[in-house]
Amino acid sequence: MSIPIAFYICLTLFLSIFYGIDGYFYHRVSECRYSSKDLQGIEYIDSFYFNQAEHVRFNSTVGKYVGYTEYGVKSADAWNKDYLVQELGALESYCKYNAAIYYGAILDKTVAPHVRLSSVTPPSGRHPAMLMCSAYDFYPKPIRVTWLRDGREVKSDVISTEELANGDWYYQIHSHLEYTPRSGEKISCMVEHISLSEPMMYHCDPSLPEAERNKIAIGASGLVLGAILALAGLIYYKKKSAGVL
Ligand SMILES: *[C@@H]1O[C@H](CO)[C@@H](O)[C@H](O)[C@H]1NC(C)=O
Repeated sequence: MSIPIAFYICLTLFLSIFYGIDGYFYHRVSECRYSSKDLQGIEYIDSFYFNQAEHVRFNSTVGKYVGYTEYGVKSADAWNKDYLVQELGALESYCKYNAAIYYGAILDKTVAPHVRLSSVTPPSGRHPAMLMCSAYDFYPKPIRVTWLRDGREVKSDVISTEELANGDWYYQIHSHLEYTPRSGEKISCMVEHISLSEPMMYHCDPSLPEAERNKIAIGASGLVLGAILALAGLIYYKKKSAGVL
């Protein structure tokens, strides 16, 4: 499965100092920006803000401080003489050192989806039937949900949601297939995800949809109940007419 894994972890370190009640606000944000699964391309950004305006930034790719205001330019000049070694070291000692821990704790974790295939009411009259294939609680985000009709991929009349974030690190997705049933065909939902060693197939029950099955079950129970009552009535009648009762 060739799903690109894109991830972005941002570590924020806040140092805030307040002066007086009206508040001068000074803060610093140190970020490690990770952009690939190997340790390549890690960027260390150290930004300094005064009253919410960034005036100096150290960017490890640039390799020095850059000032954005008059005061910032002066600071950058001074700091480039004094602190450059420290800042350059942070890329190794802070970002790369921690990357292994974060990668191990988060990125290498995968959780397989729970998949449910159900029959739902189609919204319009174009096709009489619709199936919904829902994958719940998977991680990470990239996933592929496809429909197969007798083993061949169906592309038309398929509507899918995006991968929706649950808000608890897990995702869910829902794919719909509108279709006109053909007798004897097999419809399947195929789910591919990094947590699965091979694509998972979920087959649609080829018999009647659930609503139809329920109607038949209710009808059949009614029939049985009616037959029992009729039989009881008949026995009662027979016995009564024979003078037993
Ligand atoms: C850091 O510098 C590189 C090279 O100029 C640039 O591509 C990148 O966007 C910069 N990152 C930030 C967060 O400014």
